[in-house]
Amino acid sequence: MFKINDNFCKLPASYLFSEVAKRLERFRLENPDKTIIRMGIGDVTRPICPAAIEALHRAVDDQASAPSFHGYGPEQGYAFLRERIAEIDFKARGVEIATDEIFVSDGAKSDTGNIGDILALTDKVAVTDPVYPVYVDTNVMAGRAGTLQPDGCWSGIEYLPCTLANGFVPALPKGNPDVIYLCYPNNPTGTTLTRSQLKEWVDYALAHGALILFDAAYEAYITEDDVPHSIFEIPGARRCAIEFRSFSKTAGFTGLRCGYTVVPHELTGLDAEGRPVELNRLWNRRQCTKFNGASYVIQRAAEALYSPEGRRQVAETVGYYMRNASLLLDGLRSRGIEAVGGVNSPYVWLKTPGGMGSWEFFDKLLHECCVAGTPGVGFGPSGEGYFRLTAFNTHQATLEAVERINNLK
Ligand code: MLT
Repeated sequence: MFKINDNFCKLPASYLFSEVAKRLERFRLENPDKTIIRMGIGDVTRPICPAAIEALHRAVDDQASAPSFHGYGPEQGYAFLRERIAEIDFKARGVEIATDEIFVSDGAKSDTGNIGDILALTDKVAVTDPVYPVYVDTNVMAGRAGTLQPDGCWSGIEYLPCTLANGFVPALPKGNPDVIYLCYPNNPTGTTLTRSQLKEWVDYALAHGALILFDAAYEAYITEDDVPHSIFEIPGARRCAIEFRSFSKTAGFTGLRCGYTVVPHELTGLDAEGRPVELNRLWNRRQCTKFNGASYVIQRAAEALYSPEGRRQVAETVGYYMRNASLLLDGLRSRGIEAVGGVNSPYVWLKTPGGMGSWEFFDKLLHECCVAGTPGVGFGPSGEGYFRLTAFNTHQATLEAVERINNLK
């Protein structure tokens, strides 16, 4: 009889956001007359901007006639999009990234989840805690995480706590990890690292031969000057980091699916004989084998985001959500609730009032206010006693949610 990958059985039965969705659905069925304000999963509510919609229509028409039809595209993404990315996301910020260092994909979730394919199973992993669950769960699936301990930590993973006590700035690792996941602006806390703080991580990685997997999915929300948009703004990062980007939160592509990953040529890891091997080559090989490229139509839509109109429209949408973030942050703080994030991020991370547990607060907020958020503990043990709200709803719903939270007993 065939055997399964036992590592999957070590995982909690359901993924965090599926569990939240299940509980919301139960509440909805039991309370058909009530309207839930959804501020849980980071899904957007604003429609795709006109520049991208027009590009989608044009690209669909391209597919309708033989001369403009596109079948399989390059696994790495079309040059028309990779060139725009290199130019506008990087060169314009003083960062040189070659187009063959950019790999377009169906999103940052897939790429951050799949990147482990090119790393040794013996690599030791460190994560900030709380953390986007994909980093941990995919390492559990691969067999790098060890076993789940009673404190909620996996024995094979080093957790770097981020709490009010350390201002949500993780200490450098003590366990000499090979691979470190950093997400900035952070999901779930919405906090950031300044340029000098991120430099400490790059210096650490270079000194210790570690790889930083840098998730910059929320970079479009940065408003402060001293917060780097890319880890490649930091000298030396090309030798120790891979960066992940997403069009989901920037341009509402959560449903369309498109993102990209940057793997610089200078970045090498050691093979079993101790010889350096370019990760760019390995990721390229992995993508060519397991991925046939993001669809032509979607990549045309992504390209349109870089046009002057597209950039203006994206900025408008981001601004819309950021106004919600301020409303949330100010509303919570005026009620005496400690909260962070919301300045360079669409996420607001709050300390649950009265020392309530995260799931307890989830239930209270849902049952008393009909507001749905995400329990902090779902993102890791250091998230216990915290709660995440997103700014991705409408102004009206956000204002209503703040008012309901303020009236919470
Ligand atoms: C979140 O809510 O943390 C995000 O939507 C998850 C994701 O982007 O996959």
